[in-house]
Amino acid sequence: MRELIVGPTQEGLVAAALSQMRIVLDSTPGQLSLGLAGGSTPLPLYRSLAAARYWPWSRTTVFFGDERCVPADHADSNYRAAKEALLDRVHPATVLRVPAEMDDREAAASRYEETLSRTIGPTPDLLLLGMGGDGHTASLFPGRTVPWNRDVIAAPPPVDAPHARISVTESFIARCHQVIILVTGASKADRLAEVLAGGELPLARVLAARAGKPTFILADAAAAARVDTKE
Ligand code: 6PG
Repeated sequence: MRELIVGPTQEGLVAAALSQMRIVLDSTPGQLSLGLAGGSTPLPLYRSLAAARYWPWSRTTVFFGDERCVPADHADSNYRAAKEALLDRVHPATVLRVPAEMDDREAAASRYEETLSRTIGPTPDLLLLGMGGDGHTASLFPGRTVPWNRDVIAAPPPVDAPHARISVTESFIARCHQVIILVTGASKADRLAEVLAGGELPLARVLAARAGKPTFILADAAAAARVDTKE
């Protein structure tokens, strides 16, 4: 089941995301696994989530959909951004940080893959994702083949951004019980419309791989401006 939810403002988008996350929370007794997206779009959501008193952090395991291959305190680290916006304020039971500072990136990917499998099991409860201007998601970039038999890979730097990456794969994302994708800004409007129409861009492939599973695309009015919402 796939649904596009358009929040007229950033505040409306954050409220819609929190509401959708609450639905997952209320339907998940016991341990809950929450995967965080990188980049800047989710940061207002993280700050609002930190203030949401209903979230049971003592039974939440936090992991990351992808990470830049930099130290954890680097300005470009997704972990550092999430730590400052959320993790330092809520203290989850477990935070599975990607060992992205390792020189051997393949070893880092294999180690994180094993950590996720051992700690979360085969079906994560909720994964947050973003979309880059080129239609990438996590660190799955256009034009790159990704092995279907892996859950985590090492990826070379993208064309227009620094740092090699460690990323979950399409097959991992396809198994997640629920996925919420956050997209904001007019600069992404054409690409979001393209991705939702199908095709081979990484986020389009992820949506196809998740056909029938709860997948919510939360966009502000600017990012959704080119989407044919009458479909
Ligand atoms: C990353 C993210 C990446 C991000 C998109 C959107 O490490 O950069 O995981 O997939 O979600 O690039 O980034 P913005 O939210 O900053 O536009």
